[in-house]
Amino acid sequence: MLKKIDTRLLRIGMYISELDRPWTETSFLFQGLLIESAEDIDQLQKLCSCVYIDSDDEPAGENVVREFGVHTINHKAGINEILRDFPRDYSYPVIVPVEQELESANQAYNVAASVFSSIWNRVRSCKNFSSSEFKSAINRITGSVIRNPDAFLMLRTLCDDRDYNCRHAINSCALAAAFGRYLGLYPDDISVLATGAFLLDIGKARLPEELLNKRGQLTMNEQQLFQCHATQSAEILSGVAGLPATVIDMVRSHHERDNGGGYPAGLDGNQIPVFARIAALIDCFDAITIDRPYKSRLAVVDALKMLMEAMGVDFQQQFAEEFSRCLGPYPTGAIVELSNDCVAIVMEQNPKHREHPRVMLLSSRGNPLEDRHIVIDLGRQTAGSTRNPLEIRTLLSTIMDGGKLKNRMLALAS
Ligand SMILES: [Fe+2]
Repeated sequence: MLKKIDTRLLRIGMYISELDRPWTETSFLFQGLLIESAEDIDQLQKLCSCVYIDSDDEPAGENVVREFGVHTINHKAGINEILRDFPRDYSYPVIVPVEQELESANQAYNVAASVFSSIWNRVRSCKNFSSSEFKSAINRITGSVIRNPDAFLMLRTLCDDRDYNCRHAINSCALAAAFGRYLGLYPDDISVLATGAFLLDIGKARLPEELLNKRGQLTMNEQQLFQCHATQSAEILSGVAGLPATVIDMVRSHHERDNGGGYPAGLDGNQIPVFARIAALIDCFDAITIDRPYKSRLAVVDALKMLMEAMGVDFQQQFAEEFSRCLGPYPTGAIVELSNDCVAIVMEQNPKHREHPRVMLLSSRGNPLEDRHIVIDLGRQTAGSTRNPLEIRTLLSTIMDGGKLKNRMLALAS
């Protein structure tokens, strides 16, 4: 079944079956295209106002879209080369449904929050801490993400009243684990990546509270002081026994930028440690998709657009593209409009058909469905005999009340 889609809504990972003009009028060699990069999107947007996705089609061959949670070895040569020092032949199938994992993920979140607060307070008072204090909390997060990444990716988007630095550390840790899982990294490397992500900004604990919460533009002096946190974090972690050098390098360089415009050393491209390039992406994506003391969050769809625009400037292109594929065309936690005018939240990816995730309805034609927990598996609808299967019409830039949503999600778990 062909589905017409506005080219402004195109995302990496979508498979285009037809254009609104003959393929022969374009420079595309083949009739059918898997969107692999922002350049593909640019080109399609220049040529067409809308295109057609065959939702029953599976892209085939070398360029097949990777399943979320089941790693297949179809990476672009670029990413293989970049990650040549990190073996990536691990498979992580989803082993529990998201509803079942939500409770464990929530517990892991709470444990990690109390561990982070304790470490933060110790660093603030210039006291030491040891790796045994955070290891088990990080293991709980990575364990949950490996069983089913959607539970943590969902919780991440739902606000709670904890301190921003705490939420950001836990979310970055979970995102790093999810991305490492998607890339097929070995568990030890996922653990290193998740540990670094959890501790990226620990040096901020030494900064004045007023600076961390300041609204508006920082002065030059304040900017310089703020930027010290990357080096400060690395120095603090150098004193923690048992932390791999990879973690410390990742933390020190997580604000370096692909074009050399970052700090503290102004490194560029491949000079930046590999895990720091991933950290930069994850740090930024999480920061802009949760509420900060000085700025409201963006919807996932708008945050992804921003990341794509910063590709090759702030972030290495291959990682930005892979991260976008990892999240999928309809990322978990995103708000979507369905073909029956209902609004829903994406709650679990469909590994075989990324276009058809499981969703929970939030409202029907403007009427909230707060007391009802209606979960729809769009994959089953399209695969079954339903006459007019529901489809996702579009991603919305809507920001929902995270607190209410969190309660509804956790009610699904019980
Ligand atoms: Fe930072």
